[in-house]
Amino acid sequence: MRFLITGGAGFIGSNLAKALERFYPEAKVYVLDDFSSGHFKNLIGFKGQVITGDLSDPSLWEWLKEKFHFDAVFHQGAITDTTVQDQKRMLLVNSDSMRYILDACLYWRAKLIYASSAGVYGNSPPPMREEEGLVPENVYGFSKLMMDHIALDFIKEHSEIKVIGFRYFNVYGQGEHYKGKTASMVYQLYRQIKEGRRPRLFKWGEQKRDWVYIEDVIRANLLALEKDLSGVFNIATGQARSFNEIVDILNRYLGTSYEPEYFDCPYDFYQSFTQADISRAKELLGYEPQYSLEEGIREYLERLGEDIRA
Ligand SMILES: NC(=O)c1ccc[n+]([C@@H]2O[C@H](COP(=O)([O-])OP(=O)(O)OC[C@H]3O[C@@H](n4cnc5c(N)ncnc54)[C@H](O)[C@@H]3O)[C@@H](O)[C@H]2O)c1
Repeated sequence: MRFLITGGAGFIGSNLAKALERFYPEAKVYVLDDFSSGHFKNLIGFKGQVITGDLSDPSLWEWLKEKFHFDAVFHQGAITDTTVQDQKRMLLVNSDSMRYILDACLYWRAKLIYASSAGVYGNSPPPMREEEGLVPENVYGFSKLMMDHIALDFIKEHSEIKVIGFRYFNVYGQGEHYKGKTASMVYQLYRQIKEGRRPRLFKWGEQKRDWVYIEDVIRANLLALEKDLSGVFNIATGQARSFNEIVDILNRYLGTSYEPEYFDCPYDFYQSFTQADISRAKELLGYEPQYSLEEGIREYLERLGEDIRA
């Protein structure tokens, strides 16, 4: 088996690269990345090869088609900073590239498992279901929705090639450090507490998100590899939890008692409540989240070298 992971130097991609090497020791794993938000340090311990390039360059895909054969492509590469407002760049990288990738998968007869996002739902009422409330609030969410449109049209035309899209909700876990300001709020709040600062939240910290731990996301990708089906799926826990709750959990585990410092949200395109309906992923993929927010944060802190107090 040969696997290609776009965005493989990033948070989710690098975890996936290492998991594939663990679960498929005979496989050859290749990472394609331009290192715009990924980092080589995420790939320490990775045994495969890195291909350095821009996934939105169609000539790269022509070259890849000629030089390689892949059995499956995990497409994680994207502009992941949801505050980027350059619409053309966002759509060129996140949406248009999908056409080249699908074309390459058709050529290789390879399965495609790709990362969409809960950003496609914007502020539509929860629980978010795959077919409803597709009203993105920002161009990032729109670019992911356009990706899904391209994928769904392709699936209709080429039912023999399996394409699975994952609308990840808020993913947190080891390997997100190099995302900097776009790392999850779990990590940002942890860093602030570790630096002895009060955790900073938009007023009044009661906005809720469906937080999903990296290990559940990796498991979903491994399940998708085994399934002979196509479609778009929410990947989350199905539970909405607030930013204030994250601060409470961190304080408890770290043995601290920081009060949040609240400030005005500067964005007019902010998702204030996300919660997934994950019944489709449960039913068709056999996906079952293994980590509650408490369990995910506990394991994450342990991996960050923390001594858990409670
Ligand atoms: N982390 C989350 O909470 C979350 C939520 C929803 C969706 N997603 C999606 O999951 C995927 C992975 O996200 P992540 O959290 O690991 O982010 P990340 O920023 O760590 O990873 C993205 C990777 O893509 C690479 N990349 C960006 N543009 C590229 C280009 N033009 N050519 C080649 N490589 C390029 C970056 O260098 C980086 O390594 C993305 O598609 C993202 O939109 C993530």
